[in-house]
Amino acid sequence: MSDIIKVPNKRQVVKSDGGGKKDLVQQFYESQIYTSIFRHDYKDNKRNRALQIVNNVFLHLHPTRVSRHAIDVGYTWGMGGITLLLFIVTAVTGILLMFYYRPTSEYAYNDMKQLMHDVPFGAFIRNMHRWAAHSMVICVMLHMYRVFLTGSYKPPREFNWVIGVNLLVLTLALSFTGYLLPWDQLAIWAITVGSNMARAVPFLGHAGPFAPEFHQLVGFGGAPDADVRFILLGGTEVGAPTLLRFYVLHTVFLPIVTAVLLAVHFWRIRKDGGISGPPMIEFNKAVTDASKLKVSVVDHLPKYEYVQGFKQVEGEQNFKEAIRKDLEILKQKSSSKLANLINTIDQAAEQNIKGGENTENKDNHQNHNNTTNTDEHQHH
Ligand code: HEM
Repeated sequence: MSDIIKVPNKRQVVKSDGGGKKDLVQQFYESQIYTSIFRHDYKDNKRNRALQIVNNVFLHLHPTRVSRHAIDVGYTWGMGGITLLLFIVTAVTGILLMFYYRPTSEYAYNDMKQLMHDVPFGAFIRNMHRWAAHSMVICVMLHMYRVFLTGSYKPPREFNWVIGVNLLVLTLALSFTGYLLPWDQLAIWAITVGSNMARAVPFLGHAGPFAPEFHQLVGFGGAPDADVRFILLGGTEVGAPTLLRFYVLHTVFLPIVTAVLLAVHFWRIRKDGGISGPPMIEFNKAVTDASKLKVSVVDHLPKYEYVQGFKQVEGEQNFKEAIRKDLEILKQKSSSKLANLINTIDQAAEQNIKGGENTENKDNHQNHNNTTNTDEHQHH
């Protein structure tokens, strides 16, 4: 026989039949170590589920509740998340590669060969790094394509689109600089060809339009040893300085800039009211109780958000059914009578203004309570 036991943080533990003796799992859940780290359980109520997220230094970057459509893989394709995962994989495997690689023309090629043939799991780590890097380029493009198809580049998300374009360029730059590091024939000649494009940059590349005129003016741009390609290569052709330059860019500068821009990217998603929705939902957010369209996020994000999250839609077993019902409610509220809708929007706006007047001296966030950002603001 087994029965349910309540432990201090309200986690329910199934006690196995041990003749009154606590089993190991239960002892662990009751221990001070466990209860001091995990102070809230996610199963019992919404508040604890939210606390589980905000009290964790990593998880708190994520909103405690997200729109239903945001966890529908059919809407986002999960491409942004997959791109992030691939970035993390390249960063971790890249650090491992750094233990075995020296960025000088004397050692680089041999280090790479040794890594492939002598280091245990060396080839595996290197290939993981390569495959994750190639996949990241593909996924970031698919992510951009999805954002374009769902029109998510439109206000208020236009700034995040611009951040995204920078992330795309950084992803390609990471790929390009990494290409040189094996220091084999393919690498050297590919970078020679690729960097030759820099010759043709207007004003700044010595073979580009207006370069001679620009050179006369500022003393830079019109000569092979004083143009943008020279700065990129650290010389007039690919050589040892290029290898060092690309190594530093690839392992330090570009990853740091990318990580910072990713933080801005995710922060913007939350400030813009979470992931965009189908037009119907976007349009109706102002007149619908936004919390009804949201589901709790629980810990163990990837697993629960996409698998358990579907099941957690309150009172709904079937996720698709829940979405359909949402749309039905929204339709009833709006499309039947346009005038009715306009009326409702007017009323909501009026209430907002009144609410704003009443709470003028109170916490600024309260004024936004009727908007889509409710959850994001409250948990910051
Ligand atoms: C390293 C590259 C990138 C990473 C890791 C990344 C990550 C993410 C993630 C996780 C999301 C949440 C929604 C989703 O998963 O689709 C997102 C949303 C978004 N991303 Fe990216 N992204 C990257 C590059 C880009 C690029 C290249 C663009 C466009 C030029 C872009 C524009 C946007 C926009 C506008 C949103 C909001 C979409 C919405 O609200 O529906 N991102 N990004």
